[in-house]
Amino acid sequence: MFHQYRITDRHELRLFQITDAEELFAVTDANRAYLRRWLPWVDGARSVADSRSYIDSTLQQFTENSGFVAAICYDEQIVGTIGFNEINWHSRIGYIGYWLAESHRGQGIATTSCRSIVECGFQILDLNRQVIACAVENQRSQAIPQRLGFSCEGVARQAEWLYDHFVDHQIYALLRSAATPP
Ligand SMILES: CC(C)(COP(=O)(O)OP(=O)(O)OC[C@H]1O[C@@H](n2cnc3c(N)ncnc32)[C@H](O)[C@@H]1OP(=O)(O)O)[C@@H](O)C(=O)NCCC(=O)NCCS
Repeated sequence: MFHQYRITDRHELRLFQITDAEELFAVTDANRAYLRRWLPWVDGARSVADSRSYIDSTLQQFTENSGFVAAICYDEQIVGTIGFNEINWHSRIGYIGYWLAESHRGQGIATTSCRSIVECGFQILDLNRQVIACAVENQRSQAIPQRLGFSCEGVARQAEWLYDHFVDHQIYALLRSAATPP
């Protein structure tokens, strides 16, 4: 994958380092209520130590080549994460996940980060299919695969448990053949 990927002079994606734990925890904590609406892991991130173990797991995943999570940095500050939560190498499928601090929404930062991840997925990882699964009511998240030309393939019912209820997922996918026409 990559260690560092500059998108503009203000915006870059980079691998996490263990020393990012405090900053990652601070941005998670400041966005707790907002992130909790759509992400299942927020209640489990209760301390800097939890963020440190999360970073550790992303680095291990990178080393094992089983996925990839990058920090989204804006003006050198961590403002979110994006990457492949899972890769199925046999079928060459990447499953993309992301979140962005509320303070940085509405400027295209998540979409442009995702475009870079998708390009890397096809060009560097040689994936054939990339998938983004969004809760059916998460319109802001769905707008990202829509902007990037993903096809909406349907609804996976009760696909995720979010604290006290199930949510249905809208499944978006982009095939290599559609992204790079002959
Ligand atoms: C999902 C999430 C990342 C979307 O964030 P976002 O800020 O709406 O997405 P972007 O950063 O791509 O910004 C898009 C906005 O910037 C605008 N924009 C500006 N420049 C742009 C550009 N170059 N490219 C794309 N959009 C651009 C778009 O028109 C859009 O505006 P709108 O908000 O008025 O519709 C964010 O809401 C989030 O983290 N939510 C909580 C966690 C979550 O839901 N994660 C996903 C789980 S599946």
